[in-house]
Parts: sequence; C-alpha cells; structure tokens
Amino acid sequence: MSAVTDEQDALTGLRVAVLGPGGVGGLLAALLARAGASVTCLASAGTAERLRTAGVRVESGHFGDFTTPVDAAERLTTPVDVVLVCVKATHLDDALERVPADVLGDALVVPLLNGVEHVGLLRRRYPEAGVVPATIRVESTRTEPGVVRHGSPFVTVDLVAVDGLGQRVRRLADALQQAGVTTRVGDDEQAALWGKLNFLAPLALLTTAAQATAGEVRESRREDLVAIVGEVAAVARAEGAPADEEQVVDFFDGVPAGMRSSMQRDAAAGRPIELDAIGGAVVRAATRHGVAVPVTARYVDELRERHPGS
Ligand SMILES: NC(=O)c1ccc[n+]([C@@H]2O[C@H](COP(=O)([O-])OP(=O)(O)OC[C@H]3O[C@@H](n4cnc5c(N)ncnc54)[C@H](OP(=O)(O)O)[C@@H]3O)[C@@H](O)[C@H]2O)c1
Repeated sequence: MSAVTDEQDALTGLRVAVLGPGGVGGLLAALLARAGASVTCLASAGTAERLRTAGVRVESGHFGDFTTPVDAAERLTTPVDVVLVCVKATHLDDALERVPADVLGDALVVPLLNGVEHVGLLRRRYPEAGVVPATIRVESTRTEPGVVRHGSPFVTVDLVAVDGLGQRVRRLADALQQAGVTTRVGDDEQAALWGKLNFLAPLALLTTAAQATAGEVRESRREDLVAIVGEVAAVARAEGAPADEEQVVDFFDGVPAGMRSSMQRDAAAGRPIELDAIGGAVVRAATRHGVAVPVTARYVDELRERHPGS
C-alpha cells in the first residue's frame, strides 16, 4: 500500500478483496466500490458469477438503494492491499481456502466477524500478513446472493492500529470513512474485541435460548441476563479489557424492545449458529483464567444440545 498524504488519497488505487459478500461484506464491498476503490469479492462460483454480471445491490434507508459493479472471483489470484473477512465463523475455515498465503503476502487482513478467537487463527495462518482486529456495528442482511438489505441508520467500524501497521490502518479508515462508513481507530485490541462481546454474548445467548426479543428476555430472564453480563465482564477483565457490567445492563435495557440477534435469526432459520465463536470463546477464556461462568456455560451447553455441531 502506498503512503497516505491526506484523506482525499485514501481510496485512489486501494485494492480491496471482500471474502464473503453477505450482509456485512456485500454492504462494505458496494460502499467501497461506489466510492472508487477497486473491489474484488471472493465467493462461491455461483455467487461470484452473479456479482460479476449484476454487481452488488444495496437497499438502505441510510445510503439509499443502489447497485454497484464489482469484480468477483472464487480465489484471490492477484495481490491486494486489504482483505476484509466477512464470512460467518462457521464458514471461516472453508472460506480461507480462497485466500492463499503466498498471494496475500503482507496485505492487511481485517476480520469483521463477531467473536475473539479468529484473530489468533488468522495470525497463525498468515504470519506475513498484517492482521487488524476489528468490529462492525450494523444491521445488514443478505436477502439473496449479491443483494443486501441494510436496516440500521448507521454502520460503524472499529479498527485497531496494531504496532507497525498504523499508517496502513489509518489509510483504510480514511477510505471507509470516505465511503460512508463511520470508522474509528483505537489501539487496544482486547478492548475492541471484548467491548463488543460484553453486550453481544449475553444478547445472543439469551435471545437464542428463549427465541425471543431483547425486550422479552430482559423481563422474563432478568436474573440470567444480569448473571451472564457479569460473567462475561469478569472474563473480559481477566483478558485485559475494561468492562462495566452496570453499563452493559443499562445498555441492554435501552435497546429497542424488538431487537433480535443474528444468532437467534440463524437458529430460527435452521442455519448453523456462531455459538462456539461467541459463547464457546467466553467459556474457554474463563477456563484459562479460572473465572467461574456457570450461567454462561449452562446456556452454551443447552444451545449446543439443541444445535448439534455448533
Ligand atoms: N449482518 C450483520 O448485521 C452483522 C452485524 C455485526 C456483525 N456481524 C458479523 O459479521 C459476520 C458476517 O455476518 P453476515 O451477517 O454478513 O453473514 P452472511 O450474510 O451470512 O454473509 C456471509 C457470506 O459469506 C459467504 N460465504 C459462506 N461460505 C463461504 C465460503 N466458503 N467462501 C466464500 N464465501 C462464503 C456467503 O456466500 P453466499 O452469499 O454465496 O451464501 C455470504 O455471502 C458474522 O460473524 C456476524 O456475526 C454481522
């Protein structure tokens, strides 16, 4: 990636591959391509063909409805500056077959999956690359291959400027910002990843177990909610991240009553759920640190039984 001089230059010549052009990936691919970046989506043969011929269609109250041409392929065959990893955790291993380490070289790899453990997995798999922990806050659904419905009135990405990658991370942040994505750059990896999990893990476990909305579970499962939030916060602190359980419960109480989690939607649709990447990761970190998480573990076990293989 060439040096950045000012924000105007960020998109010019930026080569981005998007692995998994679904709700998150399709939206980011379309926004970046519309703003002038060179975008290649990496997808299955059928989806890639559809994207090459029809582009990515975005339906969004926030950004408007638009269709943007993108390039698409089944595998990364030429170098890029950035790979955005946007598959679900349940598809990560298979999808990474599309990104050979020797083609990737020292490019930035920016995973936008929920969870925490994928960062280490990517660093082990791509030791030459610059793996940048990141999170995304958005509600965006792939309604069919190449078509994305963006429902939230925002999309916010948090990137961590890992040592030695600061300039390249800031260029990517500028590019995303220019494309319409609110982007923040921090320097605390654990704070970024656990900051999201602190709220997401309780929301996902409770709403999926109850097959109910956030508004319903905060009434009917209040004790479990407070317990899980406290347990995840204790694990986050053990991992070196700041966590404030009262703030998380207050936030939970403030979200729209009808809010659902994507884990719950996946469970209801009979799709694999990201239980291991979200709940499993909390329990494993707790075990490593000797932190007791009985309520979280009970929910994870119960959901594993109901969704074998998750
Ligand atoms: N959606 C949201 O609002 C949201 C918000 C915050 C965080 N997240 C997190 O972001 C991650 C992605 O979620 P998502 O909702 O964007 O998922 P998604 O809509 O299901 O999209 C996943 C994409 O990955 C593709 N894919 C699956 N297996 C693949 C493979 N082997 N090779 C290449 N592509 C493959 C799918 O392709 P096809 O289109 O061909 O099926 C699909 O386009 C998850 O970890 C999720 O928790 C999502």
